[in-house]
Amino acid sequence: MSHNSFGHLFRFTTFGESHGVAIGCVVDGCPPLIPITEAEIQRDLDRRRPGQSKYTTQRQEADQVKILSGVFTDERTGLQVTTGTSIGLIIENTDQRSKDYGEIKDSYRPGHADYTYDVKYGIRDYRGGGRSSARETAMRVAAGAIARKVVPGMLVRGALVQMGPHRINRANWDWAEVDRNPFFCPDAEAAAVWADYLDGIRKAGSSIGAVIEIVAEGVPPGLGAPIYGKLDADLASAMMSINAVKGVEIGDGFEAATLSGEQNADEMRSGNNGAPTFLSNHAGGILGGISTGQPVICRFAVKPTSSILSERASVTRYGAETDLRTKGRHDPCVGIRAVPVGEAMMAIVLADHYLRHRGQVGEAAKWPFGVST
Ligand SMILES: Cc1cc2nc3c(=O)[nH]c(=O)nc-3n(C[C@H](O)[C@H](O)[C@H](O)COP(=O)(O)O)c2cc1C
Repeated sequence: MSHNSFGHLFRFTTFGESHGVAIGCVVDGCPPLIPITEAEIQRDLDRRRPGQSKYTTQRQEADQVKILSGVFTDERTGLQVTTGTSIGLIIENTDQRSKDYGEIKDSYRPGHADYTYDVKYGIRDYRGGGRSSARETAMRVAAGAIARKVVPGMLVRGALVQMGPHRINRANWDWAEVDRNPFFCPDAEAAAVWADYLDGIRKAGSSIGAVIEIVAEGVPPGLGAPIYGKLDADLASAMMSINAVKGVEIGDGFEAATLSGEQNADEMRSGNNGAPTFLSNHAGGILGGISTGQPVICRFAVKPTSSILSERASVTRYGAETDLRTKGRHDPCVGIRAVPVGEAMMAIVLADHYLRHRGQVGEAAKWPFGVST
């Protein structure tokens, strides 16, 4: 099974299955001398960790990360820093319950990857979905914790902005609220509505989809590349690679189709040192595949969890018809734990483009041209 790596200069490769011994990753290309500790990586992992509320899977994984390589103490500062070599990270799986999956051993869960993995490879690790399980996304979050530190001054944050039909009221957006409820919701009123709504879904053994918004601030202008290296294309690919994601938008996204040219174009005025100040950000911080210096904004839609308790029509790998209920421990709304994963993928794409920009352009292009600052 190939295609387990992502990125160009900041590149990571993940390994491991849901019910295997461990999951892990190798981060390659990270610059040296970046201070990083296990505790910092753990902080991000703890936000994605299962079993933290009744609204996520009850699988109890500590998701305790170990740094295996690629760091050393810098004598000058006493800080643990990256050495420039490959960084190995590992998390042991501790709460596997393979027996939950005995009933789906030969049957395909509708909406999951069971059939497609089997038809492609002729073998499938049915325990928790094997490699198709979102357990793999823990390693993206770990790699993302390192990526966040590659771009100086960058802040990447995410929030759940819609659960099923219930959207947040954007006028209530408060980043501090995101850490106060179990949904990463920036609107306290919406979070209260979602609590009742999702409880009903959970008790019925059902599931529901969601929309996540990721915002990166402090992104320097000039990251990205034209044509096949577009920042927005790479972001779309990164988000689409997350399990259960079915749609990605940059800036106003599909809404842009309803706007006129006057409404959509982000007007500019001269700001500090003649640098442009944008009067709006319909573009989501990217023009021509290159960052403008405004916040980079990306949204993605996550489908409802396919493993549900109600019976669904399916077939076995031997062609017999069957009606399937999926027991075991599942997230009623996988969008919730997808928030830190989306943040990680945004940070990884931006770190990669930051290094690619430094590699190709470096200090060669210094804007504003001909103006002494
Ligand atoms: C954070 C996260 C947690 C997930 N948890 C579950 C789960 O508990 N049960 C499940 O059936 N799918 C879960 N999924 C979704 C499946 O991994 C995904 O639907 C499956 O791999 C098929 O791939 P696709 O939906 O991208 O086509 C989760 C996804 C994410 C992002």
